Formats: sequence, C-alpha cells, structure tokens
Amino acid sequence: MKKISFLEVLIKILMLLVFVVFLGCSSEQTPQQVKTPKIDTIESIDSRSVETVISVAEETRQLYQRYCAQCHGVKGHGDGINALYLVVPPRNHTKSDYLETRSDQQLFNAIKLGGLAVGRAPCMPAWEHTFEDKIIHSLVNYIRELCNCKAL
Ligand code: HEC
Repeated sequence: MKKISFLEVLIKILMLLVFVVFLGCSSEQTPQQVKTPKIDTIESIDSRSVETVISVAEETRQLYQRYCAQCHGVKGHGDGINALYLVVPPRNHTKSDYLETRSDQQLFNAIKLGGLAVGRAPCMPAWEHTFEDKIIHSLVNYIRELCNCKAL
C-alpha cells in the first residue's frame, strides 16, 4: 500500500516535470513578441534611462538645426545663413571662454525671453511661445555640449 502511493507521487512528479518541460519548449516556439516601436518624445526627457537621454539629445540637436542654425550655424559657430544680415552677429555657441561667463539660468533666460530681455541684441528672438521650459533647458544643455564648457 505504502509502495503504491509512493509510485503515484513519483508519477505525478514525472508528469509535472514533463508538463514544465513542455511548457518551456512551447513558449520558445511562440512567435517573437511584436515590439511596439518606442517613440522617443521630448516628454520622456525626465526619464533617467541612458537610452532616453541619448535620444533626447538627438531630438534637441534636431530642434537646434531647425530653429537656431539659420543664425547660429549648423555647428553653432555663429555662421548661419542669416548671420550676415544681422546687425549683431549671432553668438558662437562653441566659444567656451564667453559661455563660461554665463550661467545656465542666463542662457535659459536669453532663449526663453529673447536678447532684449537680457540686455542683448533684439535680433536674438524669444522662444517662450515656441518651446516649453524643459525643451529650453535641453537647448541650454546642448549649448553646453557645443562649447564643451560649464559656467565657472
Ligand atoms: C534670427 C537669428 C537668431 C535665431 C533664429 C536664434 N538666435 Fe540666438 N542669438 C542671435 C543673436 C544675434 C545673438 C547675439 C545677441 C547679442 O550678443 O547681443 C544670439 C544669442 C544667443 C545666446 C547667447 C545670449 C548671451 O548671453 O549672449 C543664446 C544662448 C542663444 N542665442 C540661443 C539660441 C537658441 C537656442 C536658438 C534656437 C532656439 C537661437 N538662439 C536662435 C540670433 C538668433
């Protein structure tokens, strides 16, 4: 009697093992999960993942190309296609010796409120109606990347 119940338990364990192995195999055979493409948005800027930070930088780079490069130049050297026609030359965003004297807040204000509001030339437009603050912050970060410098 005791022997049979032991056998029963053994059979049950074996069946369970076979079941688990079968499940394991079958899950391997299921078609790959369809990955929904991850759309990187500017809203994801607060995320801490490295992947997102890189894509936000790419997004910021594109914004800079679209909205700033015509004056500040494709690479930020202040030599954009419109630069010749401005009374005051656009700032060279790669010049660290000047940008080191500016705090991030000052750059932020210049972008948000325009040149005039920070005692600079009015031909630097105000972007407060174009960009949310967090995008302006990322543009400041991008300028820091271009000059490879920080506020001293
Ligand atoms: C119509 C031309 C024009 C466009 C477009 C433009 N800028 Fe400017 N920007 C200027 C000029 C001109 C100055 C220099 C102002 C001065 O030195 O008095 C300037 C200065 C700046 C400064 C430095 C302010 C300081 O403290 O000296 C920053 C930062 C800046 N721009 C960022 C940007 C960003 C970011 C964009 C795009 C979102 C942008 N600019 C688009 C013309 C432009």
